[in-house]
Amino acid sequence: MTVQRRTFIAAAAFALAGAAFPAMAAKPLVMGFSQVGAESEWRTANTVSVKDAARKAGINLKFADAQQRQENQVKAIRSFIAQKVDVIAFSPVVESGWDTVLREAKAANIPVILTDRDVNVADKSLYVTLIGSDFVEEGRRAGRWLNEYAKKQPGKTFNVVELQGTVGSAPAIDRKTGFEEVTKGNAQLKMLRTQTAEFTRAKGKEVMEAFLKAHGKNINVLYAHNDDMAIGAIQAIEEAGLKPGKDIVIVSVDGVRGAFEAMIQGKLNVTVECNPLLGPLLMQTAKDVKAGKQVPKRLVVEERVFPAEVALKEFPNRKY
Ligand code: AHR
Repeated sequence: MTVQRRTFIAAAAFALAGAAFPAMAAKPLVMGFSQVGAESEWRTANTVSVKDAARKAGINLKFADAQQRQENQVKAIRSFIAQKVDVIAFSPVVESGWDTVLREAKAANIPVILTDRDVNVADKSLYVTLIGSDFVEEGRRAGRWLNEYAKKQPGKTFNVVELQGTVGSAPAIDRKTGFEEVTKGNAQLKMLRTQTAEFTRAKGKEVMEAFLKAHGKNINVLYAHNDDMAIGAIQAIEEAGLKPGKDIVIVSVDGVRGAFEAMIQGKLNVTVECNPLLGPLLMQTAKDVKAGKQVPKRLVVEERVFPAEVALKEFPNRKY
């Protein structure tokens, strides 16, 4: 018998066995994922990470973009329940208002994994785990950097303005809390204005313009809850004839490439890292949950602080 003929017979036998025992072919795990939207560089990196990791893990991902609206996320979760997916994962746009839909997922026996942001529910058994950053600590890191900065200029008072993230979202609430916790005793710092700019560049620019109109050169520091709002504000500061990073010291959060570029140009003073590359850990956790393994209720990712002085050196290492 020729080699080709033997190969043909073996392949035919294999195909027949597959047809006779279709259940033996591994069924890919199906995950429904509801993303917040595409509001920032961070979010884009997070979406790419989730999609890439699903592909690499052989997970069938049903991806839904909620365009920053909670009602779209609720609809997406209900549709995942109707489709009987194996796991639901989502990054909640805001913290509250999830009890009903999460109870529906639980009643349908579908485990829910939170990524990036937390929910505020009385019954913690409505989700299996939360994978993501410690936003309170990020706020503390931003505040500690500013305390150290102010300490180097004793006797000087710094008027601070704050651009908050999406109202009611975990990162906006927690980054404010952490920052206030470590700066409240500092007599050198005075909070002039605080307002939401919804985590976007366009709003960051718009709200900073309003701050500048009201307070002009009296503003010494901007604390932005994300880099995109800081980058939008940088534009507003330049258009007002001031020097971002010098006339107004800027502290922000995320550590996206855009922030490193701004730091290299001397326009941003520090960024506190928030890691969006959650995809691989999410896929592994989903597989573990489906395999019946115990997973920790909270999985926190490691993060650093990048002041402008290290930006040039660190830039080539940035992955998002
Ligand atoms: O939830 C994470 C935050 O959401 C990021 O800091 C921000 O850029 C994003 O939009």
